[in-house]
Amino acid sequence: MIYDLIVLGGGPAGYLAAERAGHEGLKVVCIEKREVGGVCLNEGCIPTKTLLYSAKTYESAIHGDKYGVTVEGAKLDHNKVIDRKEKVIKTLVSGVSATLKANHAEVIKGDGVIKGRTAEGFNVEVNGEIVIGKRLLIATGSSPAVPPIEGLKDQLASGFVMTSREALELREIPAKLAVIGGGVIGLEMASYYASAGSEVTIIEMLDHIAGQNDAELVKLLQKGYEKRGMKFLLGTKVTAITSKSVLCEKDGQKLEIEADKVLLSIGRRANTAGIGLESINVYTERGAIVTDNRMRTNVAEVYAAGDVNGKSMLAHTAYREAEVAINNIVGKKDVMRYSAIPGVIYTTPELSSVGETEDTAKAKGMDVKVIKLPMRFSGRYLAENEGGDGIAKLIVNNKTKTVVGGQALSNYSSEFIIALGTFIEAELTVDDIKQIVFPHPTVCEIIREAIFQY
Ligand code: NAI
Repeated sequence: MIYDLIVLGGGPAGYLAAERAGHEGLKVVCIEKREVGGVCLNEGCIPTKTLLYSAKTYESAIHGDKYGVTVEGAKLDHNKVIDRKEKVIKTLVSGVSATLKANHAEVIKGDGVIKGRTAEGFNVEVNGEIVIGKRLLIATGSSPAVPPIEGLKDQLASGFVMTSREALELREIPAKLAVIGGGVIGLEMASYYASAGSEVTIIEMLDHIAGQNDAELVKLLQKGYEKRGMKFLLGTKVTAITSKSVLCEKDGQKLEIEADKVLLSIGRRANTAGIGLESINVYTERGAIVTDNRMRTNVAEVYAAGDVNGKSMLAHTAYREAEVAINNIVGKKDVMRYSAIPGVIYTTPELSSVGETEDTAKAKGMDVKVIKLPMRFSGRYLAENEGGDGIAKLIVNNKTKTVVGGQALSNYSSEFIIALGTFIEAELTVDDIKQIVFPHPTVCEIIREAIFQY
C-alpha cells in the first residue's frame, strides 16, 4: 500500500495534520512511538494545567479569608492530584485516537526512521516493515536540552535531576526543589511545587526570568513569587551537579544549593537526530528543520511542522503549522504567520503576551504609544483579586493606528489575550476596536479601557 502522506510523530502537529489530511480524503498514516497527543497531552501542557488547577484551588482555600471565607483543614493531596492528571490524560488521548479514526487516519505505533526515496515515494521503516508515502510530514517534536554541565548526565540517570516529564510524575513532594532555568517550564512547575509545600530555588543565568516577556510585568511576577517564599538566583551560572546539590557561581562567588530534587528546564531541542533525515538530505540549521512559510523543507514533498522546525515551540503554533502544511499539500493557498502568536505562562496570576512588547517595538524602530493600566481598572478584576496588583499594556503603532502587541499579568489573561491577537491579525485600527462591545463585567474590559486612552 502506498500512502498519500506519512506523518512522522503524533503530537499536536502530527495528529492534527493526520486528522486534517484524512478529512481532505488523503490516504494518511501517522507513526508514533509513544501515545498520540505527544508531549503536550501526555507530559506537557495538559498535565501541567491539571496540577496548577489543583494548586490554585488549594491556594484559594487557604487564602479564602480575604473574601470572607474560612476553610479549615485545607490540604493538597499530591497523590490525588497526580491520579487526576492521569485520568485527564487518558480521556484526552482516547479523544485524539477517536478523532483520528473518525477521519480515517491510520496510526502505527512504533519508531519510524526515514530510509530514503524510491520511485514509489518516501520509505519509512517502522517495526521492521517499510511504509511508503508520496509525501512526508515530519512532526517529531522536541526534547529537553541537556547542556554539558559536570555531573548532569549521571544525576539525570540517578533520578536526582528531573526533566518536566519526571516532575509531572513525582509521587512525593521534595522538601527542597532547585529549578535550573527560570523560563516557562521552570516557573510553572515551581509554582505548583511551592503550593504543594516545596522550598523552591530558581537558578537563572540571565538577569531576569520569563525570557522575552515585558520586563516590568516579569519583575512584578517575580515579586509575587518571592512573597510566596520562592527564592531566585539570577545571573547565576551552574557549574556542576553533585548527588545532593547544585553548584553555581554568582558575581564571582561560589554557591552550593542543596536540594532533594532538581528540575532541569533550560529549553528544548528539536528531535532531528536518528530519524533518517540524512537519507533524503533534509536541511537543518542548529538542529532544527528549516521550513518556509508553507512548512515546506528544502526537499520537494517533505514538510515539517511543530517544535521540530524550532520556530516557536508552542502547541498552538504546531496546530496552525500542521493546517498550513495540509492545505498546501491539497492545493489550498495558505501561509503561516508568526506575528500574532500568543504566549502564556500559567502562573498565578497568568502572564500573557502577544505581538510586540515595548522593548521589541522600540528595538525595531517602530513609533509606538505604550498604554499601561493597572488591572484594577476592571471592575471584575477588583471584585475577584483582593490586593491584586496586575498590569495590562497595549502597544499601538502611531503610524497605522493599529494594535501591534499587548501583555497582561492577570487571572483569565490566557483566555482573553486572543482578543489582542485577533486585532493584530485583522489589522484593526484603534477606531475599529472602539466600536466593539465587550461583555460587562469582565476582566478583558481592560482592553477597552486601554483603547480609549489612545
Ligand atoms: P525556556 O526557553 O522557556 O526557558 C529556559 C530558561 O533557562 C531561560 O530563561 C534561559 O535563560 C535559562 N537557562 C538556559 N541555560 C541555563 C543554564 N545553564 N543555567 C541556568 N539557566 C539557564 O525553556 P523551558 O522553560 O525549558 O521550556 C521549553 C519549551 O517548552 C519552551 O519553548 C516553551 O515555549 C515550551 N513550553 C510552553 C509552555 C506554555 O506555553 N505555557 C509551558 C511549558 C513549556
